[in-house]
Amino acid sequence: MASWSWSIVCTTLLAGLTLLTVTHTVRITNLRVPHTYTLERDNEPDPLVLDCEYEMGPMEKGFVLKWLFNNHSIYQWIPSVKGFAMGFMKAKIDTKIFTMEGSPGVISIKNPDWNMTGEYTCAVQTFESTDKRSARLQIIVPESDFMLEARMGGEQSDVDIMCAVQNVFPQPVLSVIFDTHILDSVLTQLDQNPSGLYSMTVRTRIPRDQLESPTPITCAFFLLGTNYTKRRETIFYDKATNIQRKWTTVAVVMSIASLALSS
Ligand SMILES: *[C@@H]1O[C@H](CO)[C@@H](O)[C@H](O)[C@H]1NC(C)=O
Ligand SMILES: *[C@@H]1O[C@H](CO)[C@@H](O)[C@H](O)[C@H]1NC(C)=O
Ligand SMILES: *[C@@H]1O[C@H](CO)[C@@H](O)[C@H](O)[C@H]1NC(C)=O
Repeated sequence: MASWSWSIVCTTLLAGLTLLTVTHTVRITNLRVPHTYTLERDNEPDPLVLDCEYEMGPMEKGFVLKWLFNNHSIYQWIPSVKGFAMGFMKAKIDTKIFTMEGSPGVISIKNPDWNMTGEYTCAVQTFESTDKRSARLQIIVPESDFMLEARMGGEQSDVDIMCAVQNVFPQPVLSVIFDTHILDSVLTQLDQNPSGLYSMTVRTRIPRDQLESPTPITCAFFLLGTNYTKRRETIFYDKATNIQRKWTTVAVVMSIASLALSS
């Protein structure tokens, strides 16, 4: 008898608990924020779409969903007025998508700027419960120009190497490589323009007699904290020595020929 009534109590308790967890919570099930988003220079980029999926018990009241950027509200959805954008992304958030029923957590950002790099948080709440999740998004702005030059200095005793990347985000790290080693005696200049993009130039000078002709010279850069990398290669080719070498070859061939004739 005792065990029978215990099992009733337990079942009731369990059912009560299940009811609690099912109906008295709102919970984020999936936060879709891309790790990186690369802007394209020539084409209009795809909009940046963020999605916050959640589940909520049928008894929940007072539902509000918010998106925050670096802890500042940029978007809010409530059942009576649907979604609206606010704050510094107000003009950038596509309002057409708000009319879509059943996707309160989706926002679409048109033509994002580099300064939309940061922490995105989705927060959901009802009168009974709250939940929130954050993820970091890195915007990448590809270079407008990337060049590498190697030329003889005025005195013909040095080779001047210059490599430059322009208008990228985030900060680039450039290195010049020849004969498989990275040059460290370089002059580096890093600038950030008023609109926030970085440009970097490295210059170095190598004594002419340390460079074979021809020698491949490589310049490579990556953007800090990303997998974005590019490289350029040029062949250092000293016309003067190559003409000299040709004449040496001709002279050797001629002397071999004259040896053959005389024997
Ligand atoms: C936002 O606020 C949380 C908690 O107060 C803090 O841990 C986090 O660093 C803040 N994020 C930013 C980008 O300021
Ligand atoms: C982001 O950059 C754009 C373009 O440079 C500028 O118009 C906007 O005010 C900036 N936003 C913030 C929050 O700095
Ligand atoms: C770089 O690429 C690797 C392998 O594809 C990936 O696991 C990692 O998350 C990427 N890192 C960044 C910062 O995008």
